[in-house]
Amino acid sequence: MSNHVSTYKPQSRMAKWWDDRLPIARLMHDSFVDFPTPRNLNYLWTFGGILSFCLVAQIVTGLVLAMHYQPSGADAFNSVERIRRDVNFGWMIRNFHAVGASMFFVAVYIHIFRGLYYGSYKAPREILWILGVLIFLAMMATAFMGYALPWGQMSFWGVTVITNLFSSLDGVVPGVGTAIVTWLWGGFSVSGATLNRFFSLHYLLPFVIMGLVILHVWALHVAGQNNPTGLDLKHKSDSVPMAPFAVMKDAVGLFAFLIVFAWFVFFLPDYLGHADNYIEANPLVTPPHIVPEWYFLPFYAILRAIPSKLGGVLAMFGAIAVLFFVPWLDTSRVRSTKYRPIYRWFFWLFVISCLALGYLGAKPADGIYVFWARVFTFYYFAHFLIVMPIVGLIETPKQLPRSITEDVLGPGKQTGGGMGIPAGAAAAPEKR
Ligand code: HEM
Repeated sequence: MSNHVSTYKPQSRMAKWWDDRLPIARLMHDSFVDFPTPRNLNYLWTFGGILSFCLVAQIVTGLVLAMHYQPSGADAFNSVERIRRDVNFGWMIRNFHAVGASMFFVAVYIHIFRGLYYGSYKAPREILWILGVLIFLAMMATAFMGYALPWGQMSFWGVTVITNLFSSLDGVVPGVGTAIVTWLWGGFSVSGATLNRFFSLHYLLPFVIMGLVILHVWALHVAGQNNPTGLDLKHKSDSVPMAPFAVMKDAVGLFAFLIVFAWFVFFLPDYLGHADNYIEANPLVTPPHIVPEWYFLPFYAILRAIPSKLGGVLAMFGAIAVLFFVPWLDTSRVRSTKYRPIYRWFFWLFVISCLALGYLGAKPADGIYVFWARVFTFYYFAHFLIVMPIVGLIETPKQLPRSITEDVLGPGKQTGGGMGIPAGAAAAPEKR
């Protein structure tokens, strides 16, 4: 996957035989052992590995759950209860999967904000970023359909509210929205048929995500990793081989993450969910407040902030679509926000806006809550469409270190340290 010169040396005749026919060990060695990694990466760079772990963990626990789960309107709710009570270690696997979805989103949000702070989306990493946004979309679709499966009240009404959004297209072409909703439901209301197709797609999508992640990591290995300075690798001393250095750091980060993960799995498994999902789905009783899972709340707040239904839907999808254009909306000459004295303030304002939208998404859509949701929705879009292009043009960045090594060791230190960066490892020409 990487474009640096291979340093792989088969250690046995068998390995040599294999390498001449299918050089998969070489690919792994060059991509994950000897790959030149910037020496100044901080712990925020461990989240890519953590996300890879989350994806595999969700697939493995999901496979086991699917062995016992019944995707029918009549049995789904009880089959989940049976998994928790009667299946050997079913409670643990189910908790791991349900808490795992939340942890996956915690990790992906940190990963995205890390990318935004350090300008990891800027050239030459645009495709890497766009693949990330596609992964994010696929993750949202997967989580949304997964939440339907326990067939509790929030599952049922969440599906009803969100699928109904498509009916707003009736305002554009009469009848089209309703036709799409009926098609999505597989009937004239949310029913067992809807649940069954959601189960099928929920099983499929993680493998699509897996494919996208492979492309994502491939693109990463072509461009090379960004780092807190945003500078490219220039000298041999700017990098260290991925193993053992970055791999060990990733292991420490993963371990810390797993402590928090385990805390929720074993002590607070239902904390991140909604109590109403312990009531079986009932089409005749609408819960007083229908709220999605916490990780959708900022987008839900944007949806409800706009007075028109179609406008709300467009704003909600627009809030994700705008991410695709970030590499071109940011006009700054430097990547890392660390060296951007003005933009830095706006970055934190953006973080506060996202948190505020998350808070407001869980509140009733009336009075002062709607007012503030509108204010923060405005800033959400203004950040990308006004702040990013304009601040990049008017701001004078702070003095950057001359190299990554200088950033770590202090001024005047260019070479020394570092462990054998292969020729061609300065992954890409610097584009400013
Ligand atoms: C299943 C979800 C994902 C997985 C498994 C994943 C995996 C990875 C891995 C292993 C890395 C390298 C290590 C690191 O920089 O942390 C990485 C880097 C990166 N990812 Fe992701 N990623 C995912 C989602 C996303 C999303 C949603 C975005 C953005 C919308 C994104 C954007 C990036 C960028 C820009 C980099 C390069 C960072 C840098 O070098 O500074 N990723 N990803």
